[in-house]
Amino acid sequence: MQGKVTPNSAVATGQGTATPLTARKSPRLSGRARMPGDKSISHRALLVSLLTVGPNEIEGLLEGEDVLATARACAALGASVEHGGPGRWRVRGAGIGSLLAPENPLDFGNAGTGTRLAMGVVAGHAIEAAFDGDASLRKRPMRRVLDPLLQMGAVVVAQEDGGRLPVRLRGAQDPIPIEYETPVPSAQVKSAVLLCGLAAAGTTTVIEKEATRDHTERMLRHFGAEIAVTKHGVHGSRIELKGRPELAPQKIVVPGDPSSAAFPLVAALIVPGSELVLENVLANSLRSGLLETLREMGASIEEVARSDEGGEAVVDLRVRASSLKGIDVPAERAPSMIDEYPVLAVAASFAEGETRMRGLSELRVKESDRLAAIADGLRANGVTCEISGDDLIVHGRGRAPGGGMVATHMDHRIAMSFLVMGLASEKPVSVDDATFVATSFPGFAEMMNSLGADIGPR
Ligand code: S3P
Repeated sequence: MQGKVTPNSAVATGQGTATPLTARKSPRLSGRARMPGDKSISHRALLVSLLTVGPNEIEGLLEGEDVLATARACAALGASVEHGGPGRWRVRGAGIGSLLAPENPLDFGNAGTGTRLAMGVVAGHAIEAAFDGDASLRKRPMRRVLDPLLQMGAVVVAQEDGGRLPVRLRGAQDPIPIEYETPVPSAQVKSAVLLCGLAAAGTTTVIEKEATRDHTERMLRHFGAEIAVTKHGVHGSRIELKGRPELAPQKIVVPGDPSSAAFPLVAALIVPGSELVLENVLANSLRSGLLETLREMGASIEEVARSDEGGEAVVDLRVRASSLKGIDVPAERAPSMIDEYPVLAVAASFAEGETRMRGLSELRVKESDRLAAIADGLRANGVTCEISGDDLIVHGRGRAPGGGMVATHMDHRIAMSFLVMGLASEKPVSVDDATFVATSFPGFAEMMNSLGADIGPR
C-alpha cells in the first residue's frame, strides 16, 4: 500500500462476516520475530505531526486498523498524510490553531485511543467535529475525556446517553489552561487534556495518582514543547505543559509494541521446549508490568540487546519455555500492564497455583468488558477462575484442557490471548471472530505460524 490517505478512504472496521480461528497444540516454537509498531506511540506520532507545520517522517508506524483510522482523521483535520512504504509515512501538519473542520464524522472504528486523543486535539480548536465508531466503541465511556475538555471551554453539541458516541464536539476559541486530577488512571484522559492544552495560553497541568504511560509527554518534548514532570505521592506524577509551543517537524521512529509482543512471549513460555527472540520491543517502565509479573512467576526472559529510538529504549528479548507458579499481582501495577491481563490470565492457567490479579475495574471498559470476557473464555476451556470484586483469581493447574469456543466481543486482545492458549492446551481453542486482530496486530497468525504455531481455520 502506497499513496495518499484521504479522510474518506474505506475503513475496515470488521463489521462484515465473522472469521473464526482455531489454535492447536503446537510443537516447540522457535526463531526470531520483529514486533509491529507500538499502537499508543503510532496514534501520537500522527496526531502530534498534525499539529506541526511542515513534513514529518514516521518510520515503523503500526499499520493496524486503529492507527489507519487516526491517519484518516488527521487528513480530515487538514494534514497531508502520505504512505511511502511499509511503516513509512510522511505527514505534513496543519499546525496548532490551523485545523480544518472535517466535513464528515470522524470514524475511529474500534479505536478508543484515537477517539479520545483526537477529541483533545479538536477541543483546542474553534472547529466542530463529529466522532463515531463501531458497536464496541459506541459502548465505551467518553465522559471521562469530555468532562475536562468542557472545563477547558469545549462544548458537546450532541452525544448519546452517558457521553457515548456518536458525539459532536465544538472546540474552544481560546482554550482555558486547567489543573486537572484524573479520576481514573488513564493515559488517554491525560493525553486528551495535554493535547488540548497545546492550544491554550498558559500552563496546563495534569495530576495522576498512579502514573500511566508517558508517550504523549515524551513525544511532545521530542517535538520541542516545554513539559515538566515531577513525582506526585508514591505512585503518581504531575505534568505541566506550557501552551502554544512551536512544534517543529520531526523524524519519528516507532518502537515495537510490548502489548503485541506479549502474545508470542506467553506462547513461548507455555509451549514446552520453545525459545524465541522477540526483536524491537519498547522498554518503558510504565509499560513493563507484564514482564515484571511473568519473571516473578518464574519466566525465563532475558534482554539480549538494547538501543534507543527517539527518546524510548528498545530491547530484544529471549524467552524460553518455563515452569510458572501462581502469584499475587498488586493493584498498583495495573496501569503498567492494563492491556496485558487477558494474556496474563492465559499464562496463569498454565502456572501451578493461584494467581490473583488485583484492581481490574478499568478492564470493564475496554474494547469489551474484558474481566467478564476473560473469565468466560477461561471457563469455556476448563480453567477454574473467579471474579471477586475487581480481582480476577485463576486457579492454575500447570495445564489447560481447552476445547472451548471463545466469544471475543469485537476485542482483539481476547482473540489473540485465547489463540495463544490453544497452542499449549490439550484440545484446540477456537475464537468466534478474529477479524479485530487486525486493529493492532495485522499478520498475527502468519507470524505465529512462522515460529511453529498451528493457527488456522476450524
Ligand atoms: C492507551 C491507554 C490505555 C490502554 C490503551 C492505550 C493509550 O487506556 O488500555 O490500549 O495509548 O493512551 P486508558 O487510558 O483508558 O487506560
